[in-house]
Amino acid sequence: MMKVPFIDLKREAKSIGGELISKTKEVLDSGNYISGNNVNKFEIEFAKYCGVSDAITVANGSDALRLIIQSLDIGPGDEVICPANSFIASAWTIIAAGATPVFCDVEEDFLLSVETISKCITKKTKAIMVVHLTGKLCEMSSLQRYCNHRNILIIEDSAQAIGATNKQGEKSGSFGIASGFSLHPLKNLAVYGDGGVITTNSQEVTRKIKLLRNHGLINRDECIVWGFNSRLDELQAAYGLLKLNYIEGWTEKYISIANRYSSELTDRITKPKTEEGCRDVFHNYVITVSPKKRNAIMHEMLSKGVETKIHYPIPLHLQKCAASLGYKKGDLPNTERLAESMISLPIYPSLSENEIDHVISSLNNIIKTSH
Ligand SMILES: Cc1ncc(COP(=O)(O)O)c(C=O)c1O
Repeated sequence: MMKVPFIDLKREAKSIGGELISKTKEVLDSGNYISGNNVNKFEIEFAKYCGVSDAITVANGSDALRLIIQSLDIGPGDEVICPANSFIASAWTIIAAGATPVFCDVEEDFLLSVETISKCITKKTKAIMVVHLTGKLCEMSSLQRYCNHRNILIIEDSAQAIGATNKQGEKSGSFGIASGFSLHPLKNLAVYGDGGVITTNSQEVTRKIKLLRNHGLINRDECIVWGFNSRLDELQAAYGLLKLNYIEGWTEKYISIANRYSSELTDRITKPKTEEGCRDVFHNYVITVSPKKRNAIMHEMLSKGVETKIHYPIPLHLQKCAASLGYKKGDLPNTERLAESMISLPIYPSLSENEIDHVISSLNNIIKTSH
């Protein structure tokens, strides 16, 4: 029986293995392993790719978001609105900065909208963290209008959305005061360990984050604020730089697999919709089915060799760690219903046509025969 793993990172590493080995040797031979040429070049190229003036590398995507919040002087007593359907890091970064996350419901496309955030605004709201979940941009022009009017900052969580664009061709990472990207191995642009990047057009944010990521030091000996050690190392930056050459081709592959799923999977499930003229980059391809049947469908897919996942089964407001914030089941009905209905299908550039065929025929057969 054909097996389709949800992800297989070895395939990509193998496909560019020779180049990775020569980059590794270059860095080892340089004797410079932190804050060198590869970091500088990667930051310049990453900023160009996103269409912003600055990119600042950090140790991971969570730190990227936390450092953004801290650089904006958001902290105790302040509220940041964030979607309840996201990875835990989106909310943790707000907590880590000492501020309070206000969990917000999402639309059918899993994203925040003006309508959903407007229910969460209080006098304490300092920012919203829009999460471009699955690689689809939130509807940024209406959010920008709404927030600008009320002096609310927009922070983008672009961890899943490198290369996603709106109808005007503007990229993820170019809309908010600043945006955090993750380079975790599971992401569309990934390194071989942890890594993160912040993009911004604000020189002030860049200045503060460069200080904060390096202990608050202005030179070798003088420290002007309490900071962190959150730097990307030279090896990871060299891998990131190399992989920027591939990101457009890989993104097109994600999109072509998504297009096959969308046109060939049965209409008896709900499939993601891309708005005309936008580019969704499908970090995940998430379908929804009846909550009563979801677990059985996943189980049957596995029995046909197809591994699927849920992003995310426990909404953030119902996580144990968030208990002290006082939310309860029923508070965010859309998010809660989606958490019981969604299934993520395998999607990555090295998926073969046979594997894609197998995912499609397995799911179509399961839905046709038993559901
Ligand atoms: C939506 C979202 N935000 C933040 C993060 C945090 O990134 P990292 O794992 O690099 O800290 C991730 C990735 O795991 C993510 O998917």
